[in-house]
Amino acid sequence: MRRSIIAAMTALSTAPPIVECGWIDEDTPERLRTTKSLVDGSTYELVMSDEFNIPGRSFADGHDPTWTALDKSDDDYSASGGGSLHFYNSSMVSTTPDGFLTIQSLLETTQWNRHDPIKNEWKQEKKYFKSGNVQSWNKFCFTGGILEVDLILPGEPDIGGLWPAAWLLGNLGRATYEGSTNMLWPWSYDDCDRKKQESQMVSACNKANHFGLNKNQGRGATEIDLIELMGGDSKGENLPATDPPIQLPYADLTLQIAPGITENRPQPGSQPIREIDRTHSGYATSVAQNWYDNLTVAGNTSLNPFFYGTYLGETKKNEPVTRNKNQAFQADAVGAMKQLVPEHFKTPHTFRLEWQPGRGGRLDWFTKSHKKVDGNGTVFHMEGDGKGQDWEHSLHIPDFALDEAMGSKIPEEPSYVILNTAISSTWAFPYDVPDWCTQVLRLLRSQVPVLVQPRILQHDEDRQGRAQD
Ligand SMILES: *[C@@H]1O[C@H](CO)[C@@H](O)[C@H](O)[C@H]1NC(C)=O
Ligand SMILES: *[C@@H]1O[C@H](CO)[C@@H](O)[C@H](O)[C@H]1NC(C)=O
Ligand SMILES: *[C@@H]1O[C@H](CO)[C@@H](O)[C@H](O)[C@H]1NC(C)=O
Ligand SMILES: *[C@@H]1O[C@H](CO)[C@@H](O)[C@H](O)[C@H]1NC(C)=O
Repeated sequence: MRRSIIAAMTALSTAPPIVECGWIDEDTPERLRTTKSLVDGSTYELVMSDEFNIPGRSFADGHDPTWTALDKSDDDYSASGGGSLHFYNSSMVSTTPDGFLTIQSLLETTQWNRHDPIKNEWKQEKKYFKSGNVQSWNKFCFTGGILEVDLILPGEPDIGGLWPAAWLLGNLGRATYEGSTNMLWPWSYDDCDRKKQESQMVSACNKANHFGLNKNQGRGATEIDLIELMGGDSKGENLPATDPPIQLPYADLTLQIAPGITENRPQPGSQPIREIDRTHSGYATSVAQNWYDNLTVAGNTSLNPFFYGTYLGETKKNEPVTRNKNQAFQADAVGAMKQLVPEHFKTPHTFRLEWQPGRGGRLDWFTKSHKKVDGNGTVFHMEGDGKGQDWEHSLHIPDFALDEAMGSKIPEEPSYVILNTAISSTWAFPYDVPDWCTQVLRLLRSQVPVLVQPRILQHDEDRQGRAQD
């Protein structure tokens, strides 16, 4: 007993130094410790940052106060997760001498035994890729504020298959643990609708307070994606239904939300077209280009016509979670695609999310570009030298649009940050299937890591308000 304690202490004392107490990295420069909202000009103060400037940090379970890198296979036993090819191995996440977090993706085999809870038997599993997923789940969460991440995208711009992302998930669910997110993801709904009660695990209809949560309050594992990469080569062709025209590679900026719209859903691969009666007279209708009202995109960004959401149907026999027919529901992906250029894969670019939670709130995504003012107004260009320093307001989602469509709301769950790279046989491949295998090999050999520095800023009042709660 005693010996094992000493061994553990020795192991700790030889571990690389960890960050100081508090959520703000003391090495974050002064100029980055406050910022102004790009929407309303109000001031935000830094509440959390990590410069990742101490090389050789380890994020394995128990090694870091803020982050945990997973050691598990990604979910892939569900019908919808069938495309993931990687095992998340915590040693794929580390910090480099030049002050960045790096997530590597390698062609290396992992073999493990998995317990099949349905058949109650152990099965040997194998995956041929290793990759990284680091998250602040149950360690650092925030509700509203500004999230900024500086990142260099991994891989090569013209090759599909790598699926890196910087995103937020409500702390009630833990990413990749499917049982923890079933019927919680991505609910952002606090009304009692008996028809939806069964499919939202923590429903506003529930009169008893389960799990230590409030009664009559709808909760969920909400998801806001700051950026997901869609790499690949569209060979000079514009992607269909994009406006302005977008080509691969691009970034998805998305709010995933439930309940989703069940009627008149837009067809994947085409822009939504919907007749709206704005006059209430029953005569005058106008054709809207949005399925949710008043979404705005700007610059080289288009509404995303390829992914409008996920239907979480009744689960099949061998899936690890269960949803019966009454628990099936539609989730929506409300999002845009922003054109990327090869420079995004070479030098750090900042991506910003402004998040005002709940009723009356908003979500705004900003990306850095290069502003040119011509006779017709302002045009944003993404030039190749990476020096674009002007914020482009890529996507705006107002709360009233969610409320009006389905009664859902801008997420207001305490949320954690996830940085990961998945490897998928379906991501970005529809345009480049035949030789993906050699393409992925080329990409893995180049091993360009994701480099990240996150910063979270909040209003002073918000922080004081929370401290008093
Ligand atoms: C992670 O990868 C390292 C290095 O290849 C290996 O030693 C370790 O066993 C792997 N961990 C898991 C959980 O597979
Ligand atoms: C929403 O969009 C409509 C149509 O463009 C516009 O008339 C209305 O003012 C917008 N509402 C808000 C609150 O911005
Ligand atoms: C303004 O836009 C029109 C139409 O796209 C174009 O022909 C014209 O050159 C533009 N003017 C300037 C000053 O860029
Ligand atoms: C999109 O980027 C291209 C290439 O930099 C540029 O020519 C074009 O003007 C941009 N469009 C907008 C709407 O900013």
